[in-house]
Amino acid sequence: TMTWIDAAAVDDVPADDVVGIEVQGRDIALYGTDDGIHATDNICTHGHARLCDGFLEGHEIECPLHQGRFDVRSGKAMCAPLTEDLRTYPVKIEGGRVFLAFE
Ligand code: FES
Repeated sequence: TMTWIDAAAVDDVPADDVVGIEVQGRDIALYGTDDGIHATDNICTHGHARLCDGFLEGHEIECPLHQGRFDVRSGKAMCAPLTEDLRTYPVKIEGGRVFLAFE
């Protein structure tokens, strides 16, 4: 079953940028994009880099370490050296808060 967790204020998520937060002991990246807020794991699937230190362009986050890119909507790995997709989390907005669904 999924549990919705209050993760952040909507106002804490920058437009066209990424922020790293901790939710339930997990390192999560929140992305402010033109179609709303998306959430993924913050640690790259290739090495120990934090995606919140990377560069968001549209719906793609570029890892700061080797410039691998993920689609933040699906978590899909878009280019080398990435071989593994990124975990994403369902997002809902309620009362100015960002809720993430955890299993
Ligand atoms: Fe992210 Fe290598 S650690 S691309």
